[in-house]
Amino acid sequence: MIETYVKNLKKYLKDRAPDTLVILGSGLGALAENVLEPKTIAYKALGLPEINVQGHSGQLTLGKIGQKDVLLMQGRYHLYEGHQPQLIRDMLSAFANCGIKRLIVTNAAGSLNPKIKAGSVVLIKDHINLSGQNPLVGANDDSLGPRFPSMENVYALSERKKLKKIAKRHHINIKEGVYMMVLGPNFETPAEVKAFRRLGADIIGMSTVTESIAAAYLSLPVLGLSVITNMASGLQKKELSHAETLETAQKASEKLSVLIRAYLEENM
Ligand code: HPA
Repeated sequence: MIETYVKNLKKYLKDRAPDTLVILGSGLGALAENVLEPKTIAYKALGLPEINVQGHSGQLTLGKIGQKDVLLMQGRYHLYEGHQPQLIRDMLSAFANCGIKRLIVTNAAGSLNPKIKAGSVVLIKDHINLSGQNPLVGANDDSLGPRFPSMENVYALSERKKLKKIAKRHHINIKEGVYMMVLGPNFETPAEVKAFRRLGADIIGMSTVTESIAAAYLSLPVLGLSVITNMASGLQKKELSHAETLETAQKASEKLSVLIRAYLEENM
């Protein structure tokens, strides 16, 4: 499959050469709507499976942010939909083969940490893979990456430092945290939330880690950003109204767009 993705991607990219891939999480697609010279293609036309989650259209957009071409994925493959984790490895391998040198992943996440409130933006500093799945399972192609890749510096310190400086300059308050991935699709029980907090996770979601593991395997540095949409089960005394949740998510996603834009413009 990798060869098919590569062939289709090259046809789509023509002479443009983006080196950054941004994966946009649920409700965070706005960034892709504000790029210059956009060129959009459905995942299906690239030979990739379709996506059928609300809020995800399943398309790739090539466009300019500042002077620079970037690729943005609107819609991601969630394992809880039944997608094979190796799909993520193969897809990112194809992107790397076409010149992608770094990955920015975004997601909507719940907070396990009382100090991290709904509406905030969290810079992922590390992860805990509790999904029970791994994109690297199966025979290894040594030309892509090592059989036993290190996960020591997945969320590159250098890039996190840059992002923190940008946030400061834009007066955007961000915290760093450990992201835990669960398979889903159910939300956690209150007992699970307590247990996961003790394990050292600050925020939780059903994506991202698969992509980060595959990126680390391919030696692509990752910048990970989460928008906190809710406190995890049992941590919120009063239930947020749906309108409040949407509003906080919306505001936070604007902050996220500002951060990613500035990061890309300053790192050409
Ligand atoms: N748990 C898991 N995934 C999530 C949550 C949550 O509370 N919020 C958004 N994605």
